[in-house]
Amino acid sequence: MSKSIKNVTCVGSGLIGQGWATLFAAGGYDVTLQDVSSVLLENAVELVKFNLRFLKDNGLLQEGEEAVTSPRVHTNPDLAGAVAEADYVQESVPDNYPAKKKVFAEMDAQAPENAILASSSSGLLMSEIQKVVTRPQRCVLVHPFLPVHLLPLVEIVGGEQTAPDTVQAASNLMEKIGKTPVLLKKEVSGYIVNRLQAAVLREAIDLVAGGVASAEEIDRAFCNGMGMRDPFIGPLLRAFLAGDGIENFVKEYSNSYRVRWESMATWKNLSLSVKETLVESVNAMPIVRENSMEKIKDWRDKMLIEILKLERKCC
Ligand SMILES: NC(=O)c1ccc[n+]([C@@H]2O[C@H](COP(=O)([O-])OP(=O)(O)OC[C@H]3O[C@@H](n4cnc5c(N)ncnc54)[C@H](O)[C@@H]3O)[C@@H](O)[C@H]2O)c1
Repeated sequence: MSKSIKNVTCVGSGLIGQGWATLFAAGGYDVTLQDVSSVLLENAVELVKFNLRFLKDNGLLQEGEEAVTSPRVHTNPDLAGAVAEADYVQESVPDNYPAKKKVFAEMDAQAPENAILASSSSGLLMSEIQKVVTRPQRCVLVHPFLPVHLLPLVEIVGGEQTAPDTVQAASNLMEKIGKTPVLLKKEVSGYIVNRLQAAVLREAIDLVAGGVASAEEIDRAFCNGMGMRDPFIGPLLRAFLAGDGIENFVKEYSNSYRVRWESMATWKNLSLSVKETLVESVNAMPIVRENSMEKIKDWRDKMLIEILKLERKCC
């Protein structure tokens, strides 16, 4: 494995690839951004500059002004050329096995043999992707969260053929660029957070579809209840605190949770009528009705900055 990572290539310059390029550039790495067309790449570099400016303006970038005006981000629409000098490649192409396998096979053939090949996939298994490469030991899943340049978490997990050194090297690199890596002990579809999100989302949709509350009311309940403490307390520490100790929680609350779990949604597909109710209820939310998508995203990022500042204070 690469002992020292200097050159990073980001394959795919969509939402996630731009975020990665921002983070690596902010961390002082030489970044090559690759995509299928020069037009996409030009657009992506402008967004990387915008992200770097945003980080700088919010005190989250230690580097000088030149890191924003002249970031060390190069572009190359040719995949072979883009990975030829890479020590670490972060792939962010569309989330399906054919697309991932095609790109991994080419990255494996063209990148230096010690380079680490990481995938941003939101739910696919590395054991399946790495079947197409000749050096599967250097392939690893490194899953970020949107917006990548702001949310600290990355979930890291190897496939069946991934070397433990690769997982460790990816984790070390993530720490260097300011991420909070969480290493999974084994692969599971959707990893940790997307499984938790999927469980909460199904219940939220079911409450809307069942006429219990509107999308507006459900989101308000979430944000003012569990969401308010979730930035620093996870569901398991919450159970510990709720029971004044986990042993007591298990003793006192098992039955009430059993009743809730028995009454909860178990469906696996959205029916047409549920889809229609969901779309109508979300589109009726005042924040959605009264603001553009861009304005909502801008507001989200500013709120995230405030939470990040608070989290730093707590540490
Ligand atoms: N969007 C999210 O919230 C999110 C969060 C975490 C992880 N991810 C994962 O990150 C990956 C990328 O997601 P995204 O939201 O950035 O998608 P996106 O559609 O915004 O971007 C994908 C990019 O890949 C490019 N691309 C397609 N084929 C390519 C190829 N052969 N070579 C190089 N580039 C190619 C496309 O032109 C596009 O610019 C997916 O695996 C996704 O699951 C997404």
